[in-house]
Amino acid sequence: MRFGHFDDDRREYVIDTPTTPYPWINYLGSESFFGLISNTAGGYCFYRDARFRRLTRYRYNNVPVDEGGRYFYIKDGSDTWTPSFRPMKKALDRYECRHGMGYTKIASSRGGVGVESLFFVPLGHRCEVHQVTVKNESAGPKSVKLFSFVEFCLWNALDDQTNFQRNFNTGEVEVEGSTIYHVTEYRERRDHYAFYHVNAPLAGFDTDRHSFLGLYNSFGEAQVPLSGEPRNTMASGWHPIASHCLQVDLAPGESKTYVFVLGYADNPVAQSSSRPMGAEKWSAPGVVNKAPAKALIEAFSTPAQVAEAMGQLKANWDRLLGQYTIRSGDPKLDRMVNIWNQYQCMVTFNMSRSASYFESGIGRGMGFRDSNQDLLGFVHMVPERARERIIDIASTQFEDGGAYHQYQPLTKRGNNDVGSGFNDDPLWLILGVGAYLRETGDFAILDASVPFNNDENNKASLLEHLDRSFNHVPNNIGPNGLPLIGRADWNDCLNLNCFSETPDESFQTTGNRTGRTAESTFIAGLFVVAGKEYASILDKLGKADRAAEVRRWVAEMTVRTEDKGWDGQWFRRAYDFFGEPIGSQQCDEGKIFIEPQGMCIMGGIGIESGKAKLALDSVKEHLDTKYGIVLLWPAYTKYLVKMGEITSYPPGYKENAGIFCHNNPWVMIAETELGRADRAWDYYSKIAPAYLEDISDVHRVEPYVYAQMIAGKDAVNHGEAKNSWLTGTAAYNYVAVTQHILGIRAELDGLRIKPCLPSKFSTVQATRKLRDATFEITIKNSASGRYRLTVDGQAIDGVVVPYPAAGKTVHVVCEC
Ligand code: GLC
Ligand code: GLC
Repeated sequence: MRFGHFDDDRREYVIDTPTTPYPWINYLGSESFFGLISNTAGGYCFYRDARFRRLTRYRYNNVPVDEGGRYFYIKDGSDTWTPSFRPMKKALDRYECRHGMGYTKIASSRGGVGVESLFFVPLGHRCEVHQVTVKNESAGPKSVKLFSFVEFCLWNALDDQTNFQRNFNTGEVEVEGSTIYHVTEYRERRDHYAFYHVNAPLAGFDTDRHSFLGLYNSFGEAQVPLSGEPRNTMASGWHPIASHCLQVDLAPGESKTYVFVLGYADNPVAQSSSRPMGAEKWSAPGVVNKAPAKALIEAFSTPAQVAEAMGQLKANWDRLLGQYTIRSGDPKLDRMVNIWNQYQCMVTFNMSRSASYFESGIGRGMGFRDSNQDLLGFVHMVPERARERIIDIASTQFEDGGAYHQYQPLTKRGNNDVGSGFNDDPLWLILGVGAYLRETGDFAILDASVPFNNDENNKASLLEHLDRSFNHVPNNIGPNGLPLIGRADWNDCLNLNCFSETPDESFQTTGNRTGRTAESTFIAGLFVVAGKEYASILDKLGKADRAAEVRRWVAEMTVRTEDKGWDGQWFRRAYDFFGEPIGSQQCDEGKIFIEPQGMCIMGGIGIESGKAKLALDSVKEHLDTKYGIVLLWPAYTKYLVKMGEITSYPPGYKENAGIFCHNNPWVMIAETELGRADRAWDYYSKIAPAYLEDISDVHRVEPYVYAQMIAGKDAVNHGEAKNSWLTGTAAYNYVAVTQHILGIRAELDGLRIKPCLPSKFSTVQATRKLRDATFEITIKNSASGRYRLTVDGQAIDGVVVPYPAAGKTVHVVCEC
């Protein structure tokens, strides 16, 4: 069943019911100011950090779901309703929500009044703009009242939800003209405030939540809009809100448009002895300096300004999405590759795993592994930002090559609570940097001087950081010659040194064993993948000796993996604390795992010996389902203290045999390494969201973005997805489909064109822009497994088209 449709020309998903199987959301903003918005206008916004600079309050895990948002109420005679359906849930004569690239539009009508709201964050500004058009669609005159509503968060989202003995006293607001200022804690150490403005005179306002709603009422029973009478309340402590009341008088057919600005402003306080703290905070004693807010208000006081900002937003997305586009003849593939998968990659790059409808914005920081992987799907869009991100990540690395598992976005410092010791982490830095170099050719980044553990007095070149990342594996080898796993590898829940028997302990950070036994074949595979990438970088730098050493290690690890990592029909997953295999025929449960089959073969392990083929056929036999490939089989039915969190989940969910969509593309890529296009395609189209639109009732979350997990075959609700948006799934599926299935991949020396497409794709056109050149590519596919390339009519050897001079366009034909 569907709940909407794709509008590819406008790059929108159009939702035609407010009662989707779960709130279907979108993100506003792509620089420093962000909002999350559902199809019924729920959600919240923040500046930079969803925990420390949250502007509006949102109630996670509430009843009903999705409480808190940017709500508008219409009072039309005796009828009061909300155009976004929630929170009043009055029946609408018409409803449509369009989620687009960085904006959301909700249009509805009731009783002859039409309301169209547009929500977006303008480029270069720290605010959300809400443009609301009210139209009289009836035959007679209409006189209605429009009430806006947002509830302020007292900035620190965790404190806001826990520290009530203090927070019920601190709330403060100011009202000036049509602007409501939220100034809680500005009197002390904060130099920032929020405001909500509308470009029209007010019929009244409210800033006190109890007065606006009524103490015992929900958002859907707000007494001010129900009565139609604003109360001009001034919040003092408790719960500051901002609600404007506008009187809207309309002749038949007439409409009026209002521009609301919900913004963040600051008066940065430079502290010095000559300039005491607070010098510019106040325009008069106790009066907040409103100059920065007023500048922002000025910038968006007319619909013409809004239209211009929307034009800029669209032009920006044209540019971002224009680096790699295809016309394949399959609209679902085109919309994934050209629009939604890239869009999701941008969101994951911006958010990491911090704020979604499944991530509360107060929990996790930026993951070392996650952020490097996100880069793989993002680097072609804004390489400059990828460069900055690489330096930020590398700056948290330790001297021994190890890494903090996470760092905080606001301070960019490593996070001590989670600590380090996830032994795959360092290798991802090589892959992140490799992707950046292949995209840009900017080898100068390797000379950048980058601190260890953010210590400015202890720095080394980025190249040296990569070297230490690589060496971290040879320096941490276990009894079978395979890499030690540490606290966990990519699978955060495979905790072989933890042995936790106490509830509430973290599986990741409670290591009560030193653990120099447990090994990971996944890290072995990743080491080979990253080692090959690193050696090719060293080749380019003319460091032949080091490249040879790296290759020796890669060859050695390949042999060890085929030997000690092999189980007979597939690659083993790991060796536990006692030296027993995990992911083996010998095990009762968890006999086969997906990760090493994907990653080892991506590294080329077992391709010549035939083990790769055996392993992938075993994946097909034991792990494949109609909704995707499960992580392991059979699912663990009981908690095993020696394995940790993975066995804590009920069978079929999350890492315990869920379809973890992030590692499915590794198997797709591995299949393309064997040239098996149909298999790769089958796996791709099983989990790519656009292909799941018709089963939205089963899948439940948004059909335009990937979710982290779909419940596996052992789960009660097989096929149901959770944790949409913020997942490495976005980047890795993008890599799989664009670089391996479509086969267009930037290499250090040129653009590799080596598609592995099923024969039903007979002709695919692609445009790839990089390094100031444009490649116009025609793939003529008969799935022959042989490749013949011409560049501007001239045949070339091999599948790599050398980079042309800047500014040039080359035409490539690939017959395969
Ligand atoms: C989550 C984490 C990621 C990890 C994966 C598997 O997606 O963000 O770092 O690799 O789970 O445990
Ligand atoms: C990953 C896993 C999750 C686990 C978390 C711990 O995100 O998916 O199950 O709780 O890591 O960091």
